[in-house]
Amino acid sequence: MKNKFDSLELGQFIPLHYHHNMLNDSARMNSFKEAINWVVKPGAKVLELGGGTGVQSFFAAQKADKVYCVERNPELVEAARDLLAKNINGDKVEVIQADAMHYLPPEPVDVVICEMLHTGLLREKQMPVIDSFKQRYLEKFGGPLPVFVPEASIQAIQPLQQNFHFEDFYAPTILFQNPYSTQERSKSLGDPEVFQLLSYEEPFSQTCAYDGEILITEDGQLNALRLITKNILSINMTAGSTVDWHTQYIVFPLAAPIQVCKGDQVSIRFSYQGGAPLKALSDALEVRHVSQRVSISQFALDMMNLTMTFQPQTADQAGVL
Ligand SMILES: C[S@@+](CC[C@H](N)C(=O)[O-])C[C@H]1O[C@@H](n2cnc3c(N)ncnc32)[C@H](O)[C@@H]1O
Repeated sequence: MKNKFDSLELGQFIPLHYHHNMLNDSARMNSFKEAINWVVKPGAKVLELGGGTGVQSFFAAQKADKVYCVERNPELVEAARDLLAKNINGDKVEVIQADAMHYLPPEPVDVVICEMLHTGLLREKQMPVIDSFKQRYLEKFGGPLPVFVPEASIQAIQPLQQNFHFEDFYAPTILFQNPYSTQERSKSLGDPEVFQLLSYEEPFSQTCAYDGEILITEDGQLNALRLITKNILSINMTAGSTVDWHTQYIVFPLAAPIQVCKGDQVSIRFSYQGGAPLKALSDALEVRHVSQRVSISQFALDMMNLTMTFQPQTADQAGVL
């Protein structure tokens, strides 16, 4: 790490003590363990980009012949070497201190594991790292590309009414939510709307964007949007099943809350680059009320006013009205 700006720009130079939280996250650990166990075949060669403590490389090493584990943070490189030495088959993992944006293994690999996943594919460099890896790998080794873990990410947004009051203190700030537990402070005002389906094996744009309208299904105050990122860690074509993992939801407060009714449409627009800071989404976000549901009584009233103002010329027209 060259300087403070470098670490801020990376946004993912996670200190060792935070890795305990990741190790302790059973949804994350179980999903990766299951996916890696499925994807890595006996005798395989595996590359992990952003190895951290080396835990995913450890999972891979239970079946693989060789695992290249690339980590940029020197503190983590040392920790991973130390931890892997204490674990079974850890000797199959070679920990390399390098930048995943530039590293290529010395030989073709069957599987690439990359968990630089942040909700919205913001902050961490999952998209640029995999995109750069694919280009360089194909130039050096030709095809086929290895299987990626995760194989894909699906992103969605959802309109919310969020309680931002804390003991009378009003603080509409960006917040994170555990996707696997009930959110007492949130009320969904509509269904999640998918805006991106990204397969890491296929060519992809580095832009994450949405420009569309969402149907409101509940009355309320639309004051936030929930960003959802579901990662398909592996696909089992034979069983027709997937191993999925949701990163934490992020709730973005809206600058100007909007009162909405069931049946309304709101237009939502944003665009940002994968790996950009969270602010890139908040800064780009435009939310507008585009149409309001018209109640039957309001419709009848409007029609009556119209009839009085514009008297029909013929009986036919009156019939139509
Ligand atoms: C979210 S952590 C995941 C760590 C580990 N793979 C796991 O699943 O527990 C991402 C890791 O990627 C590393 N990393 C971030 N950018 C990197 C880069 N450009 N090159 C290599 N490693 C990087 C970070 O230091 C961090 O350890």
